[in-house]
Order: sequence, then structure tokens, then C-alpha cells
Amino acid sequence: MKNVSKYTRGYFMPPVRCMKWAEKEYITKAPIWCSVDLRDGNQSLIVPMSLEEKVEFFKYLVKIGFKEIEVGFPAASETEYEFCRKLIEEDLIPDDVTIQVLTQSREHIIRKTFEALKGAKHAVVHLYNSTSVAQREQVFKKSKQEIIDIAKFGANLLNECAKEYEGNFQFEYSPESFTGTEMEFALEICNEVIDIWKPTPDNKVIINLPVTVQLSMPHVYASQIEYMCDNLNRRDSVIVSLHPHNDRGCGVADSEMGLLAGADRIEGTLFGNGERTGNVDIITLALNMYSQGVDPELNFENIPEITEVYERLTRMHVYERQPYSGQLVFAAFSGSHQDAIAKGMKWREVEEREHWTVPYLPIDPKDIGREYEGDVIRINSQSGKGGIGYLLEQKYGFDLPPKMREDFGYAVKSVSDHLHKELMPEEIYDIFTKQYLNIQSKFKLIEAHYVQGNEMKATVTIEVDGEEKHIVGTGNGRLDAVSNAIKAYFGYDYTIVTYKEHALESGSKSKAVAYVGIAGPDGKTIWGAGMHTDIITSSVSALVSAINRM
Ligand code: KIV
Ligand code: ZN
Repeated sequence: MKNVSKYTRGYFMPPVRCMKWAEKEYITKAPIWCSVDLRDGNQSLIVPMSLEEKVEFFKYLVKIGFKEIEVGFPAASETEYEFCRKLIEEDLIPDDVTIQVLTQSREHIIRKTFEALKGAKHAVVHLYNSTSVAQREQVFKKSKQEIIDIAKFGANLLNECAKEYEGNFQFEYSPESFTGTEMEFALEICNEVIDIWKPTPDNKVIINLPVTVQLSMPHVYASQIEYMCDNLNRRDSVIVSLHPHNDRGCGVADSEMGLLAGADRIEGTLFGNGERTGNVDIITLALNMYSQGVDPELNFENIPEITEVYERLTRMHVYERQPYSGQLVFAAFSGSHQDAIAKGMKWREVEEREHWTVPYLPIDPKDIGREYEGDVIRINSQSGKGGIGYLLEQKYGFDLPPKMREDFGYAVKSVSDHLHKELMPEEIYDIFTKQYLNIQSKFKLIEAHYVQGNEMKATVTIEVDGEEKHIVGTGNGRLDAVSNAIKAYFGYDYTIVTYKEHALESGSKSKAVAYVGIAGPDGKTIWGAGMHTDIITSSVSALVSAINRM
């Protein structure tokens, strides 16, 4: 691209090598989660949430299990102030939940923030000022020392206000635009703030290191976090928090690698809502941990419900391929994927398998409220016999012989190809019943009586062109006897190559279903299925269906 020379790398590596995190393989425990849906998330919406919507969202975050929730920037807008007051005055904050409020490092803003918190049992007061080279030079036009002074002013005032105002306050400091800040400077300013707050292991402060704008690959951020963790004053009294945005699409990677690098806490949103490309998606992060056997300590067992609440309140849309949550993320249309999933699911049924290893499905969709039918195996012209057969079996109970699955697979694909659309389970069932089940197009089976002698004798009544005919045949069993009667009457030449029967468990419980494959002189197998309360009748119907389809 012709303008490439306009760009350069705008981040800063730590002054020493910080790569211990790279030796670690996975995250071993859930971090402290803080939802910023009602602040960062809300401030990025085309239409911000109303007071009532914020209250509903807050209650829902509590239901999911968040213990820390940033509820806004109360000094910035009347609605945010009112919302904070409403939560406190109407006693909507459970005892084990802490609200968090954001403030700039300016006296009247800090004071208004503390006023907004009057009566709160406990709260996090989150102080920030911007520290990056770009912001210092272009926006604030201040030296490093002047930027430190802003932070120190706010830190001191928080100490003062905490004494003046009633309540149990915890402090948080964010060097905003951390990722565009020289690491030594970010460390210096955070340590200045820590030294003012003098936290102890029993009274910790939060140092939040935001990816305000994503400027680097995630391993750079992880090295920056490791450097901060290694060098922050009073590390045992500091909760290191991450607040990744997603400009380069690495919000989740930044968070995961940042946790490996020593961070304790994550600020993010549901579905990654937030400024520009959003904040990190806490659902993805949590379920990534879950998929490796680590309890995320948030309840994401009903993603469809969470999606409904989120879409209604934010007026945003959850992207179809959003990890774990999107409509299509468990869907398999392709034949080979469907086949592998169907086999994987069967393999699980055989024995109680402890661990989930089904191909193509990183977690069991059922664990997060998704259905196999409709969510996993979806049928279009790309689909294969495995998936189509699996769907017919799971939803309607028909367990076709393998070769018949193949035949039926072609029938379904051809309909989907022709209509150029996805087929729903009912349409697939419809194709099966219309094309294979109890087919009586050329002649009808009215009744059959059997007498066992040396051989089985069948006396069969059929209807051909509106006329009843009585035909007789013998054979080594009932089906063979009926088949011989039909062959003799019509002069057909075929052999029965496959026969299978089973009880139909789903739907009408008392029915039996049979499948018959017959091969003519050309060797091609024609399939038919029969269903009846009587197993003999269903097998004869299956044969009649196959012959009628010849
Ligand atoms: O993205 C950011 O840097 C922020 C800060 C206020 C933490 O939202
Ligand atoms: Zn942010």
C-alpha cells in the first residue's frame, strides 16, 4: 500500500528482557473479573442505555456472577450520577458486589465522584490520567513531571476524600494510554501513586494497565506486564489489572498472555462491546479457561439468554462468528465435519467419557445453553450423509443403515442444491417420509396372512390400478414369502440385500421401523422404509416401498 511509510511501531519494549511468561502454558485460575459494560461499554453505544436499562443490565451482571462492576463516570453526566445514586439509595447492590466509578484527576470531578458514592458500603474509585508520548505531546502539551504531578494530585485527593466521606473505598489507578508510554515512565508514575496510597496486603490497591489502543502483538504487551509486575512497589499489596481493547483483534490474546505474565484482574465487557473495536470479550476469555478445565467463576450456562438481554439493552448485534456466542460458531454444514461430529458424539455415548474431545467442537454446546439440533448439524448442499443421518436419528429416531444414509444424503443435498437454501430438520424429515417411507405409488399393500408349513406361505392382498389382487408366495420367512409373491406377480428381478429394524423411540413410542435395500440386475440398491405398530407389517411395508421406488 502506497502510504505504508506513514506508519511505524508506536509501543515501547521494557528496558530488560521479560519473557518468563512465555514458559507458562495455560491459565490455572480465574482472575478477578470486573465488568466495564456500564461505563466503557455504554459510552461507546450509538444510543447509550437509559437509567432503567442500566439497572436491568446491572442486575443481570450480578446474576452472571460479577463481583466488581464499573457503573460509570458519575461526574461526567447526570444520568451516570443518577444511576449511581439509584443503585445505592435503592439498595440494589448485593453485599458481595463492589461498584467501581471512574474519575479524572481533577478536584471538582473527584469530589463529585465521592458525593455520588455517599452511602455505598464499599466501592472502587478509579483514577486515571493519560501518560503516552502522543497524549503528552499533542493533547496535554505537558512534560513527564507535569503528568506525574497530575497523577499525584489525584492520588493525594483520593486519600483525603476517603477520610472525609463515609464508606469503604478501594483505589485504582490507570496510566491511560499505557501501551503508548515508555515502560520506565509508566512504572515511575504507578510507583509514585502507590507510594502515596501506601497499600498493604490487607488493603490492596489496583494498578490497571490498559491497552487503551492496541499498538503491538500480544507478546509485547505480556512483556510489558511482566516488567510492571516485577518492578511495581509493594507488589504484594497491589492487584495488577488489565483492560485490553481490541484494535488489532488481540484483546483476548493480550488478556491471556497478560495473565501468564502475572496480572490478577481483568476489566472487560460481554461480547467485547466497547470503544471502537471494543474491550476484551469476557465471555470468550472465561470460556477459553472453561474449555481447558478451569472454572471461570462466572455463569455462562445460558448464552442465548445473555445474548437476548445484551442485544435488547445495548441495541448491538452479536456477530454470527463471535467465539462461543455467535449463532454459527458450533454449526457444521460440511459433510466431513458433520460426519466427524456425529461419530464423536456416538463414541461418547458408548462409555461415560470423562473429557470432552468431540472433533470440531471445542466445548459441549449444551454447557452454554446451545442445542445440538439447529446449532450444530445444519444441512445445506455442502452437507454429508453422516450429518443428515445423525440429524434424522437425533431428532426423529430413524437410525438408517449406513448405505441408506448415503442414498438419503444425496436426496437431501439435491433438494438443498435445487432450492439453494439451508434445510430445517422438519424439511429433512419431510424428504425422508415422502421419498422412502410407506411408499405405495405403483401398488398398495392391503393385508397379508401367513401360514407356517415346511416353508412360510404368505397370502397377500394388494391393490394395483384400483383393483384388489390376491397373490401367494412361499419363502424362508414372512418377508421372503411376500417378496416371492410380488416377484411372481409382477415378474420383478431383485434380491433383498439389506434389512434392518428397530423400535422408534422418539415421537410415537409404540411404533417399529424397518429398512429394506433391494438390488436389481444392475446391482444398484434401492431403499425403502416402513413404519407400523406391528414389526412384520413395517418390514413388509419397507419392502413394498423399495419395490415401489424401483
Ligand atoms: O481504555 C482505557 O484506557 C480506559 C481507562 C479509563 C482505563 O478505559
Ligand atoms: Zn477502556
